[in-house]
Amino acid sequence: MPSNSIDSLLHEERRFPPSAEFTSTAVAQADLYAQASADRLGFWAEQAKTLLDWETDFTETLDWSNPPFARWFADGTLNVAYNCLDRHVEAGNGDRIAIHWEGEPGDSRAISYAELTAEVKRAANLLTSLGIGKGDRVAVYLPMIPEAVVTMLAVARIGAVHTVIFGGFSSESLRSRIDDANAKLVVTADGGWRKGKVFPLKAAVDGALVGHAGSVTNVLVVKRGNNDVTWTQGRDLWWHEALETVEAEHTAEAFEAETPLFILYTSGTTGKPKGILHTSGGYLTQAAFTHKNVFDLHPDTDVYWCTADVGWITGHSYVVYGPLANGATQVLYEGTPDTPHPGRWWEIIEKYGVSIFYTAPTAIRSFMKIGREIPNKFDLSSLRVLGSVGEPINAEAWVWYRDIIGGGTTPIVDTWWQTETGAIMIAALPGVTTLKPGSAQVPIPGIKIDVLGEDGTRVTPPNGGLLVVSEPWPSMLRGIWGDPERFTETYWARFEALEGSKYFAGDGAHVDKDGDIWLLGRVDDVMNISGHRLSTAEIESAIDSHPIVAECAVVGAADDATGQAVVAFVILRSKHSESQSPDEASALLRAHVTEKIGAIARPRQIFIVNELPKTRSGKIMRRLLQDVAEGREIGDTTTLADTAVMQIISDKMK
Ligand code: WTA
Repeated sequence: MPSNSIDSLLHEERRFPPSAEFTSTAVAQADLYAQASADRLGFWAEQAKTLLDWETDFTETLDWSNPPFARWFADGTLNVAYNCLDRHVEAGNGDRIAIHWEGEPGDSRAISYAELTAEVKRAANLLTSLGIGKGDRVAVYLPMIPEAVVTMLAVARIGAVHTVIFGGFSSESLRSRIDDANAKLVVTADGGWRKGKVFPLKAAVDGALVGHAGSVTNVLVVKRGNNDVTWTQGRDLWWHEALETVEAEHTAEAFEAETPLFILYTSGTTGKPKGILHTSGGYLTQAAFTHKNVFDLHPDTDVYWCTADVGWITGHSYVVYGPLANGATQVLYEGTPDTPHPGRWWEIIEKYGVSIFYTAPTAIRSFMKIGREIPNKFDLSSLRVLGSVGEPINAEAWVWYRDIIGGGTTPIVDTWWQTETGAIMIAALPGVTTLKPGSAQVPIPGIKIDVLGEDGTRVTPPNGGLLVVSEPWPSMLRGIWGDPERFTETYWARFEALEGSKYFAGDGAHVDKDGDIWLLGRVDDVMNISGHRLSTAEIESAIDSHPIVAECAVVGAADDATGQAVVAFVILRSKHSESQSPDEASALLRAHVTEKIGAIARPRQIFIVNELPKTRSGKIMRRLLQDVAEGREIGDTTTLADTAVMQIISDKMK
């Protein structure tokens, strides 16, 4: 990548050092870095021992004798659910609220650690009574209701393996995941609330199991939506009825640290989703460590809220395992941010006094689009730490988030990680790090990250390269379910020739002169314009920095003259979309990109649109925009949150 293009990201000069007040009570201490670099494995061993309760202590921290297959704390034994539940009750915190659950229609439930423990014990007995044992897979297809958390922990408690499938996935995706994992049981609901309506889940499970000659013996159905459901006698059971038939008491058995905990499917470069496998002790250690230190968790006073669905890795690590292992009080919300009104999230923050809030840049940008008037109506003064995850957060959104949501004072932690990494890998530590808007900044203590050129040499500032993790880490994926070759091929073959095993993350990155890391987006989204490589993220960041812009997406479209050309799709902030003609706006923005990065990055075309095609997890599907930009028939839109969006955009183009 040409250094001038990367340089443009670095025109961001704003710096936010921690306040003395924040630092004085901060969980994270600056000396964590020194401790970890003096003895990396010793550091993780100590975290595992302080953060978790082990039934049998481990004697070896890491076994890396057969890379890339790592074993962490392998001869130690523990129970993951016991660590998330019973031990907090035993320590006298049974009355502490674990979950403030808020349903979309406004119904709510407060669940203490004692109550959650009791529910999980009963559910564990139920699973056992249905023949589920250690190592068996249980598919979970539920809305964001407490039973989703209860099910995951009950599965963990008996040493079984959950595979949570996001409620927005179709029958067909569900079926392929159930089949790939060979699940014995599916836990679902008679519907869940989303955008003011009940969406069917049980019907999708029925569809997925039509003609299913495979592994599934039972379907447990939680009553939530009061939808009519069709019933397969002998297979289907109501959750509430089945629970009545089992004992309340359950003693957690300890399992080896490398016992599989879950499989989570994620998309790769090929069509078939990969089942990312995570195990117990190392995963829980890093989830708990990062949750505590990156979010500055004070469990007796904080109210934490991560808006991710449990169907994604963020929901696994930062709704279920990290927060509960740390004994946090958290909010769990069933619905969408704008139902029944656009201030719903801010209303929830005010209602529960949320102090730590973790969400995605895409959400922040859509709030920017609506304007500050909505959040300004609510009392957000309880907030003291804000987090971001999922994609690079451009400096404008970062500053808006801090000023409008965080009252101009909260630290913002931009956290880089992946389904595969299991937990946060790169982030500032609040109270320690001087923050830089737009940069994810530094590896957390105990993590080794490098940015390498194509040839495997470390790049020097201001050049960009490929992000690799150069030492194994506790919460690393242990493989791709049923496909060890694909695991090796996808992540470990890229820099195979180098000494030591390097995990190839698939992200481009740049390190600045202070050593801070800037993520440049997936390398699969890199464009080549007249022989120059440019990152979509970089051009997006330039466009986003213009005051008329709410959100944008950039793709590289085939171009006879230059190989590829930059095409941008831009949503204007509402007050500008009325006053500015599309032609004026696009002329203005083309000039702006030229000014920010250089003529080489100037978009060939800028389309002003009202929406961008996003997956249900909020990722922009650039592939579909590329189809439009290249005048092709639009590809598969089934994973879009709103499938009509592409039609509207392509009609507009015509
Ligand atoms: C991207 C989500 C920049 C990145 C936890 C990564 C980010 C992919 C950030 C993983 C961030 C995630 N800054 N990019 N803070 N966080 N990404 O598996 O491209 O859904 O490879 O995990 O999201 O997405 P996944």
